[in-house]
Amino acid sequence: MEKITIAIDGYSSTGKSTLARQLAKALGFIYVDTGAMYRAVTLFALQNNFVHKGKVNQGALVKLLPKIHLDFRLNKETGNSDMYLNGENVEKPIRSLEVSSYVSKVAAIEEVRYKLVEMQRKMGKAKGIVMDGRDIGTVVFPDAELKIFMTATPEIRANRRYKELLEKGEKVTFKEVLRNVQERDHLDTHREFSPLLKAEDAIEFDNGDMGLEEQFERIYHYALRIIEAQKKGA
Ligand code: DC
Repeated sequence: MEKITIAIDGYSSTGKSTLARQLAKALGFIYVDTGAMYRAVTLFALQNNFVHKGKVNQGALVKLLPKIHLDFRLNKETGNSDMYLNGENVEKPIRSLEVSSYVSKVAAIEEVRYKLVEMQRKMGKAKGIVMDGRDIGTVVFPDAELKIFMTATPEIRANRRYKELLEKGEKVTFKEVLRNVQERDHLDTHREFSPLLKAEDAIEFDNGDMGLEEQFERIYHYALRIIEAQKKGA
């Protein structure tokens, strides 16, 4: 199979990771969840008490950035890649509402973005990758052969997230989750460095009332068409 780069960007809880994982599996490509990387750096900031009264101590975090080692390792039970922070599996704590509440602030720090974007470009050097995030089609891989931008209303997205958190046993209210989704939307789209933005050549998907299967089929066919065209050297 010819290798291409697939960039999936969009708002939080639009099902980017589900789609990216399905595509990677069907195409035999590597899947990288860049949100997990920003979440792991946020967890590191929390563990080191760099968060006080809703504010992140940027200077302290930036100073310790060289001490943050991130890698993805295959979880044989789930078949997915788990996020490791300095050798420890952090897949569960990085999905908590506490990390979600601060991650957009951490992701707005220029030095943090610089470090993670470098790592992401290295991971995608050999192509054959599906990467999801907020700046993949605009900053990380502006030359990606296929770019998807996913949207859905804040209420639909908060409802998805709320159900996920309840299933994991977190005690949250729908209102809290909706507020978190809206706050993150605002921070992600208004930050100075690489804000969430649809790349000009990205295909926009509002999946508010589209089933996961239909969405996957449509995008998978786009990918196959591009791969075919590459093979023919078109
Ligand atoms: O995809 P997610 O919800 O797990 O991402 C968590 C946060 O990380 C999100 O609020 C925005 C930020 N993020 C980012 O700024 N750039 C990326 N490439 C991926 C995530």
